[in-house]
Amino acid sequence: MCGIFAYLNYLTPKSRLEVLDLLVTGLKRLEYRGYDSTGVAIDSPDSKNIVMVKRTGKVKVLEDAILEHFSGGEYSEPVMTHIGIAHTRWATHGVPCERNSHPHRSDEGNGFVVVHNGIITNYNDVKTFLAKRGYEFESDTDTEVFAKLVHHLWKTHPTYSFRELVEQAILQVEGAFAIAVKSKHFPGECVASRRSSPLLVAIKTKTRLATDHIPILYGKDDKKLTSDQVLPRSDSTSEFMPLEEKEVEYFFASDASAVIEHTNRVIYLEDDDVAAVRDGTLSIHRLKKSLDDPHAREITTLKMEIQQIMKGNYDYFMQKEIFEQPDSVVNTMRGRVRFDGNAIVLGGIKDYIPEIKRCRRLMLIGCGTSYHSAVATRQLLEELTELPVMVELASDFLDRNTPIFRDDVCFFISQSGETADTLMALRYCKQRGALIVGITNTVGSSICRESHCGVHINAGPEIGVASTKAYTSQFISLVMFALVMSEDRLSLQQRRLEILQALSNLADQIREVLKLDSKVQELAKDLYQHKSLLIMGRGYNFATCLEGALKVKELTYMHSEGIMAGELKHGPLALVDDSMPVLMIVLRDPVYVKCMNALQQVTSRKGCPVIICEEGDEETKAFSSRHLEIPRTVDCLQGILTVIPMQLLSYHIAVLRGCDVDCPRNLAKSVTVE
Ligand code: F6R
Repeated sequence: MCGIFAYLNYLTPKSRLEVLDLLVTGLKRLEYRGYDSTGVAIDSPDSKNIVMVKRTGKVKVLEDAILEHFSGGEYSEPVMTHIGIAHTRWATHGVPCERNSHPHRSDEGNGFVVVHNGIITNYNDVKTFLAKRGYEFESDTDTEVFAKLVHHLWKTHPTYSFRELVEQAILQVEGAFAIAVKSKHFPGECVASRRSSPLLVAIKTKTRLATDHIPILYGKDDKKLTSDQVLPRSDSTSEFMPLEEKEVEYFFASDASAVIEHTNRVIYLEDDDVAAVRDGTLSIHRLKKSLDDPHAREITTLKMEIQQIMKGNYDYFMQKEIFEQPDSVVNTMRGRVRFDGNAIVLGGIKDYIPEIKRCRRLMLIGCGTSYHSAVATRQLLEELTELPVMVELASDFLDRNTPIFRDDVCFFISQSGETADTLMALRYCKQRGALIVGITNTVGSSICRESHCGVHINAGPEIGVASTKAYTSQFISLVMFALVMSEDRLSLQQRRLEILQALSNLADQIREVLKLDSKVQELAKDLYQHKSLLIMGRGYNFATCLEGALKVKELTYMHSEGIMAGELKHGPLALVDDSMPVLMIVLRDPVYVKCMNALQQVTSRKGCPVIICEEGDEETKAFSSRHLEIPRTVDCLQGILTVIPMQLLSYHIAVLRGCDVDCPRNLAKSVTVE
């Protein structure tokens, strides 16, 4: 959570107003990561001070404040080199307010200012250490200790470079962070670092970069600061000039969507990398070198397009992403499924398939919607792999210290690839020797990089906080995996063909389901004033009930529950009366008769459910006046078609209730804290 963004121009004239504009645009792209408060820091017109503007609320509020605060005049003078830092916050320590907004400063003179994403877990110890040395704190955040710690180190180590000060400070802090630091004592320089929170550096030059790598400079010192001793100096002092030309712009950002409109050349920083820009030169440092550490960080070329992160003609990103699903599912299968030869190749895991086939069990681990994609595909995985399959919520999996063995294969499913609970679970399983398979939508994310192998779901950037197209693409990725695992099972070939056939029709069928939009909107008008919505189903559609209820809760703030229809008579039936809104999924699959029993249990308690059923199923439709008909597909893919009406319903209810669809209250897209 939280988005950080920094911009540095070197020998490329930009006015402070232009820099502010770049910072605000960067924050808008990162807003999905948190929208409790925002802030920026730039140089004052005489370049002797740092000016900060912070506001509670969304980036728009900050933008208005900036327009009011900095109009023309001295702020429109071009400057050859300047560094600005910016932040959009999802509050962890301290309520959302201006005082707790980033950037945080080291002292009244704004010597060092910091933006931070993550949690410094030992901030109380650092605070006590600094308080004893006279520092007074002005916020309730963990971040402030970092700014003050750098300041303390600067006072006690006056000959240190900016990069060395930050390097020593990160040695003293524990937890997760991505930080960018600016200082009035080191004008034109920026230092950034990360540990367990994402951070990339993007480079913009007029001509193509002459290198694809930035060498890593290693130091050797690693010492804890317990008193006022002088810390030993790192020896990684030589700077490397990777770029042939001098005019360059650098961007530091929590993710690629914030930089893609400027450049597609990025370096994903690794944990404990310290990236520093001085005199226009970027260098990457690490204090310790271990045996398998590389010599350089690669400059990668982003494949993303700017249109992918714009709303286009849609009112909300979520709406756009729901309607992108006919294309996103095809992109997930592109180059992997050959419908003519009935062959599937998952390049990212193909070398590991023999090992996976020999495993003891498959574990599918994720949070929220990503977890639901595991629930949705578990039955098919059991059927086609003939292996035990466990599905786990990452947080609960860790709480239980679940036993993991070397011959387990553990899948980590995550849209962002950065979810802290999922990442912790990954590391837990990796330490115990299991094979780690990542299923993510974010190239270069921590889960991607820490997995042994994996499948990139290729759904394209998902900006709406509520996950939609990533879910259907995760679902399909797991179905493709099941098909790969059963390639040589003669007895399963008929079933595989049936699924492949259904996959080839899926995009058109999704288009059909999306045509229900106006009908779903009408339904939303009936439901939006209610307090609660129960969603019932079983078998392959139970996951849709869970996912539908999650969407309704997070977007509309209504209570909603996904109920396993088989459990109805064991308790939830007591909720049903003529006033309780109920939605039931009743399709012509192996659990149809059981679903019909549940439907009758509901109607005989005066319940009047909305039914999702198959096109032309008159018998089922007769049980209710309100129904949504979806095309018929193979049982194991029904969940893709039944979840779309639920996505649309939650969207329309949210709009009718006046909720902020893309930024539900208290939430953020990328949950990088446990
Ligand atoms: C709900 C939603 C969340 C995420 C969850 C995991 O709409 O988006 O439940 O699915 O926070 O996030 P990722 O998939 O990024 O690990």
